[in-house]
This record gives sequence, structure tokens and C-alpha cells, in this order.
Amino acid sequence: MKKKLIAGNWKMNGSLAANELLLKGLLAGIGQPPCSVAVCVPAIYLAQCQALLAGSVIELGAQDISSHESGAYTGEIAPAMLKEFGLRYVIVGHSERRQYHGETDEVVAVKAQQALGCGITPIVCVGETLKEREAGKTEEVVKRQLAAVIHANGHCISEVVVAYEPVWAIGTGLSATAEQAQQVHAVLRAQLKAASPNADRIKLLYGGSMNAANAASLLAQPDINGGLIGGASLKTQDFLTIIAAAV
Ligand code: G3P
Repeated sequence: MKKKLIAGNWKMNGSLAANELLLKGLLAGIGQPPCSVAVCVPAIYLAQCQALLAGSVIELGAQDISSHESGAYTGEIAPAMLKEFGLRYVIVGHSERRQYHGETDEVVAVKAQQALGCGITPIVCVGETLKEREAGKTEEVVKRQLAAVIHANGHCISEVVVAYEPVWAIGTGLSATAEQAQQVHAVLRAQLKAASPNADRIKLLYGGSMNAANAASLLAQPDINGGLIGGASLKTQDFLTIIAAAV
């Protein structure tokens, strides 16, 4: 049985002082976690967090990666630059990037490719909006988003992590039910199985208002192999409770 993964997505939150407090609190309470643990921090804090997490059980991730290798792309961060900070993970295709920065399925697929190319595991986010869910298009949307990544990454697809994040559940306090989440995860698993003989080892995370109270029931579902946590990852005790639930 593969270990679950609990990854915090800090989004655009934090400060030098707040990061230190949070990470020191997590390290003091985490002991030997039952799962893999990571925090995906704003790029400007990678060096600080790398130093604070050195030699610990918490791995480091970023929240985005350039689809280009280097050159005239003002403000972007190249894959090789991220690699220098000992990154294990990078989130790609978060709905906030798709929505506010116009990232298409194809761009997301290239970003996943760039990450894999330099040995960083992409956490590929997929998920439907409320409008799409209400129109009965959930399956169609998540399958389309995942298909682009499978198509671009071929046999490397078994090296990615996939996060199902229904847009309507993000930051709203309105999590998908365990059954709703499992239903979509089963669809994604089947799609991955058709693409790779190693699909069983691909971690499928759920994200969207996962918290200390609902984590255990979500994480008990057969195709939910962890969580991508926003708001609750900024609260030491809540994040530790979620980690402890990921058995
Ligand atoms: O990537 C994590 C995410 O979008 C979920 O955010 O605050 O609903 O846990 P939140």
C-alpha cells in the first residue's frame, strides 16, 4: 500500500516571521508522520523554507513553474532554478492559475513536462467549476484536463501526482463529500490505468476545503491517496491533525 501524501499549498500567504513560526511549530509536533508531507510555499520564501526544513521529514514544493527553460520571460521562474532549492514537488495547473492567468490545458501539460524533466514531481490539479458540475460536465472536464497531461508526458505519467480540486470547494468551506470525491477519483484512476501499467502507484490527492474535521473520511476513500490543503495548512494544529489522519 502506498503512503499517502499531505501537501500544504500556502498560496500567496506568509511572511518571514509567520513562515518560521509555522514551520517550527509543525516540526515540533510532527514526530514520525504516517504519510509523506510537503509544503508548497511562495517562490520568494523557498530559500528560507529550505533552510528551516533541512534534514526534516517535511519536503518542499513550489506553486508554479515556467513552461520555458530560460530567457526573456520576465517574472517567471525556470525549472532549473527551482531545482536549486531542493524541491520535491511543484503544483501545476491550479485552478487559480487557470482562472486568473489564463493557463490552458496545453500550458499545464508543458509545465508538468518541464518539472519531470528536472526531477521535480508535478502535482497536477484538475477540477470542475460549479457551473460545469451543475451542467453534468464534471467527468468530461477533469478527463479533458488530465488527458492533455497524459498525452504530453507519455510513459512518465506514472511519476506525476494528480490533485482533484473542485473549484466550487476551494476556499469556500464547502468540501466535496467523501462519496463525490471518490466518484471523480475513480474516473481519474481509470483514465490513468488506461494510459499506464503503473497507474496504481500514482497518488491522487483531494483538495478543496479539506480540514481537521473532514480529512479522515475523505482520506478513507479507496482512490484518495492524500490531500492538497489550502487554508488549513496555515494553521499548525489543523495541518498536524490532517497529517495524523493520513494513515
Ligand atoms: O490547492 C489547495 C486548494 O486550492 C484548496 O484550498 O483553502 O479550500 O483548502 P482550501
